[in-house]
Amino acid sequence: MAVWSPLRFNCGREVANRFAIAPLTTNASNDDGTASEGELEFFRRRAANGFGVSISSAVYVEEGGRSWRGVGATHDGHVPSLTRLAEALRASQGLAILQIYDGGRIARPELIDGQRLRAPSAVASLRPGAQTPRAMDEDEIQSLIASFGKAASLARAAGFDGVEVHGANHYAVHQFFSPRANHRTDHWGGTLEKRMNFALAVAQAVRDAVGPKMIAGFRVTPFEAEADGYTLDDAKQLCNELAKLKLDYISISLDDCRLSRPTSETRDYKNPIVQTHVPTVSPISEIARVIAGRCAVMASGGIRTRADAEGAIKLGADLVAVGRAIVVDPEWLTKVRDNREASIVPGLPKDEVEIAETLSIPPRMVEYLLSRPGWIPRL
Ligand SMILES: Cc1cc2nc3c(=O)[nH]c(=O)nc-3n(C[C@H](O)[C@H](O)[C@H](O)COP(=O)(O)O)c2cc1C
Repeated sequence: MAVWSPLRFNCGREVANRFAIAPLTTNASNDDGTASEGELEFFRRRAANGFGVSISSAVYVEEGGRSWRGVGATHDGHVPSLTRLAEALRASQGLAILQIYDGGRIARPELIDGQRLRAPSAVASLRPGAQTPRAMDEDEIQSLIASFGKAASLARAAGFDGVEVHGANHYAVHQFFSPRANHRTDHWGGTLEKRMNFALAVAQAVRDAVGPKMIAGFRVTPFEAEADGYTLDDAKQLCNELAKLKLDYISISLDDCRLSRPTSETRDYKNPIVQTHVPTVSPISEIARVIAGRCAVMASGGIRTRADAEGAIKLGADLVAVGRAIVVDPEWLTKVRDNREASIVPGLPKDEVEIAETLSIPPRMVEYLLSRPGWIPRL
């Protein structure tokens, strides 16, 4: 299957090639949750290279779940900003998808007006300095599900082609699925089936809000590296249930898809945690086998060359999402297409001002990228 061939999603929308811009938080939005000119330019420049799909940064659905200075989709006043975001992501006529999230226990207290963090259970994250959240009650859970639906309807009003639920990387939807973060014993936790309920309710709310003709996707972490985390078998069961909801794609989030390494909760790239359950088979192949063509599969993590993309597709992916490679080289896709891979820039320059000015990266995003040593390659 050629990386430049088109693909038709279940909803009928067609994507011109198999390359997607991975969701990339800029941490550089305006305080009111509108997109800043700097971050629009970040996306415009990268999308202009001809990505079939461009996915936005994760956009918050409730003020109380903000994990960074990002774009919001909470009320009608956000629609003009979302429209500008969709236009930037469509700089070369690709499909524009809005990723939506809630931070749950990894929301940032300073961004949520000093409110107490709320999460599936009163269990702190493994991140250094994490506060213990309070457990959400039934009304709060129902209103968070409704907030995901509302955000999806705002995306539709703003002209997006689709919406992706951020069910990965330890944010709230992931937390509900994780036996480490979710100790509930009601409808939302206790057994594997019940831990799936929140993810399924959010996916259904999004599908209902966007209707059958827009793309509805879901991003999942295929297993947790942490002790007592959920396993690949658990994630396969979740993906099987998600596929029954007539989604258009399931996106598998890995830090490195060749090494099958997921994003850890601590995000400490210098001292990675020791994985307790390492699958002997690729999570991409395993999930693709479970989905069995019912929707598309997107893979990500460490795609740096055309051969990497083809490798992920051989494992069973239909699409690949590219993140860090296009952060450090905005013209990455053009170089891949023109067989000029030798000229791909592999890391960020040393000088921070040069990073911001030559790569169209807003200064606050530069700060964010450099805040975790080992995360983004440097020259
Ligand atoms: C700066 C930055 C911001 C990110 N923001 C998001 C995000 O908002 N939502 C998400 O699902 N993943 C996010 N990710 C993870 C990427 O989408 C991707 O899965 C990860 O970086 C691995 O792929 P890569 O090796 O191609 O970068 C982010 C990654 C980076 C580097």
